[in-house]
Amino acid sequence: MEKSSGTCRHQSWFVIFVSFGLWFTLFYFNSEAFISSKNKVQSVMAAYVYGITSPISMNPIENATDTGIDDDNVENNSVEDPVEPKNEDPNEENGNEPIDQKDLVTAIESESGPDCSGKYIYVHDLPSEFNEDLIKECRTLNKWIEMCPYMVNAGLGPRIGNSQGVFSTKGWFSTNQFMLEVIFHNRMKQYKCLTTDSSKASAVFVPFYAGFEVARYLWDYDVPTRDAASLALVKWLTSKPEWKVLGGRDHFMVAGRITWDFRRLTDKDEDWGNKLMVLPEVRNMSTLTIEASPWHKNDFGVPYPTYFHPSSDSEVLQWQSRMRRQRKRFLFSFVGAPRPGSTKLIRNQLIDQCLVSKKCKLLDCSKGNKKSCDKPSNVMKVFQSSTFCLEPPGDSPTRRSAFDAILAGCIPVFFHPGSAYTQYTWFLPQNYKKYSVYIPEDQVRDGKVNIESVLQRYSKEQVRRMREEVIKLIPRVIYADPRSKLETIEDAFDISIEAVLNRVEKARTDLKEGRNPDEPPHLETNTWKYNLFKTEEKHEWDHFFYD
Ligand SMILES: *[C@@H]1O[C@H](CO)[C@@H](O)[C@H](O)[C@H]1NC(C)=O
Ligand SMILES: *[C@@H]1O[C@H](CO)[C@@H](O)[C@H](O)[C@H]1NC(C)=O
Ligand SMILES: *[C@@H]1O[C@H](CO)[C@@H](O)[C@H](O)[C@H]1NC(C)=O
Repeated sequence: MEKSSGTCRHQSWFVIFVSFGLWFTLFYFNSEAFISSKNKVQSVMAAYVYGITSPISMNPIENATDTGIDDDNVENNSVEDPVEPKNEDPNEENGNEPIDQKDLVTAIESESGPDCSGKYIYVHDLPSEFNEDLIKECRTLNKWIEMCPYMVNAGLGPRIGNSQGVFSTKGWFSTNQFMLEVIFHNRMKQYKCLTTDSSKASAVFVPFYAGFEVARYLWDYDVPTRDAASLALVKWLTSKPEWKVLGGRDHFMVAGRITWDFRRLTDKDEDWGNKLMVLPEVRNMSTLTIEASPWHKNDFGVPYPTYFHPSSDSEVLQWQSRMRRQRKRFLFSFVGAPRPGSTKLIRNQLIDQCLVSKKCKLLDCSKGNKKSCDKPSNVMKVFQSSTFCLEPPGDSPTRRSAFDAILAGCIPVFFHPGSAYTQYTWFLPQNYKKYSVYIPEDQVRDGKVNIESVLQRYSKEQVRRMREEVIKLIPRVIYADPRSKLETIEDAFDISIEAVLNRVEKARTDLKEGRNPDEPPHLETNTWKYNLFKTEEKHEWDHFFYD
């Protein structure tokens, strides 16, 4: 993992941390024992796929219904012939547009004023097998989820109406949590400082749909099948003159699935995922992903896509002021499914506490009730009427739901530092107490805390201030509609681009001046800590990541 000149000490660190990685993965994937049977891995992983936003179904028979979109919301799954999905409000005008790349501004070499200096991005023209073809083959993308309906509106999914008054009239879509690659690529096509001259570029974007690609093969496929596209991509990239400039240090891409889908460590079929992110070439690149590894520096956490994709500043400002005025009926709420049989995860305890509290609203997403959690208006209504939203780890530490909560002006309650604080450091303030509540999960597991009384202790004034911080975060965690432009507001895309440009600039300077661009942190496994605290000193959270 450290360079090939790595010492024995380095190598044993590697082994130790690889085991941590495995432990972590298994811990979160909720497997009781080290899994020897392929089927077991697959069912555990199936649970994980459902788990992040939506509810568990271990039963593959239910796969076809798990679209995250109501049946009555979408009439046809065809992409070649996109049909307009029904709105929640049948009277409302439907504004879906088919995904049509020609409609998107391909503003290559747009009017590039002097403000583009240091910001030029060159976009690789990848063979379509790495991106567009995957959209065309949307039916094959996911064994459990029908992805085709989500491809409309430049990847935002079908527009949703406002029959229940939960949303504003414009800017809301039934967006799938795995759509970031398409949304980001479409935003990039409008980036103000694109260049077709790679020698002018500060960074090189690789529009590979890494998550779509791997999701086709996560279940039932052997290692060579899972790795084929990653290997082909790397071969293609390294054959280009752009690679040689910095050995790929200026290249970046987006992976709209969690990092563990791309970090297989062995070549055994029963191990999970492909090995995209462990390839030496990709280790030189930066990958933006909805959940990054705490122990690696080649990936960076970016927000999950939410349902809100405004097309103007005023839509954002109006939404924020509406969330400021919103009346909160519940002190706290939980939207999610239990994890029966898990002793590690605290979801069951949280659900029990919620059920006995008059001040808690529970939206139960377990099997029989899954549909109601798939409906954006149901989920957002609960978050909007709650002061605090519980965001415990599921099958992995992060949840899309945390971003939906922020969007609704609900103060998130986190139980694991890896759920947000060490993850999304480009987007969230370092001082997490300003915008969230932190209750260590071990205290919940041991039955030592009563959530209601912890939350009750915050004064009206404290709540008001935290809520304002949350509402101020809204623009930073959303992705604007790629078919239009926000005027002055910076969204998650803009913030990501700035951070990537800074990172590449640092690598370029380091290489020029003979430093190792991989440092700091001195130890890669301290990445989580360094990202948040800018130090590698001992920390009270160490046991979450190393024990
Ligand atoms: C749905 O799409 C298919 C093409 O995949 C088409 O044959 C069919 O007519 C469409 N149905 C409706 C209701 O438009
Ligand atoms: C869902 O599962 C059934 C039965 O296992 C299978 O026949 C069907 O093709 C699956 N549907 C999707 C969309 O994967
Ligand atoms: C990674 O970057 C370094 C420069 O920091 C370069 O020497 C090396 O060749 C690159 N690796 C690959 C696989 O291109």
